[in-house]
Amino acid sequence: MKLKIIKDSNPIMRKRSLPVDLPLSKEDKELLDSMLDYLKKSQDEDYAKKHNIRAGVGMAAIQVGVLKRMFVIYYQTEQGEVSYQLVNPKITETSVRKCALEQGEGCLSVDVDHPGLVHRSYKIKLEAFDALTNQDIKISAIGYDAVVLQHEYDHLNGMFYYDHIDNKAPDKPLFGEEIL
Ligand code: NI
Repeated sequence: MKLKIIKDSNPIMRKRSLPVDLPLSKEDKELLDSMLDYLKKSQDEDYAKKHNIRAGVGMAAIQVGVLKRMFVIYYQTEQGEVSYQLVNPKITETSVRKCALEQGEGCLSVDVDHPGLVHRSYKIKLEAFDALTNQDIKISAIGYDAVVLQHEYDHLNGMFYYDHIDNKAPDKPLFGEEIL
């Protein structure tokens, strides 16, 4: 399946995505597979250059025009790869403690750079159906992992990372905020 990434100028990106019927349809599973495949390829430098695409670690269905509550995540860490196909995710807990990536965030749907600290919860718990392992899962995530999950989750509710930047003081950490 060839995917076309929708940009933030498209009003559909501000819509709230709708719950997905389970068991997952063949079409939905195929879409998730294509999305995950896109992320993996986007992280291959030669492929990305050749196809003029940017590297991404997450993608929500709405970013390819499908208004459904599901997203995929893929990146490598020293501990191994982090890979999910999450359907109907719910963030069940968020820490009071905040964190932000020092370099800010980016998004496949956002071509213009929005510098500034994107304030997130440092720790979250999330429940979802994971179509990659075909089971209900509970994820406890901190730091970068929590940031990526919150970034993608935001897309399901029509939000962008730059909505969390304080335009009056974009580089100022919150009290006690962990800068990653
Ligand atoms: Ni994004």
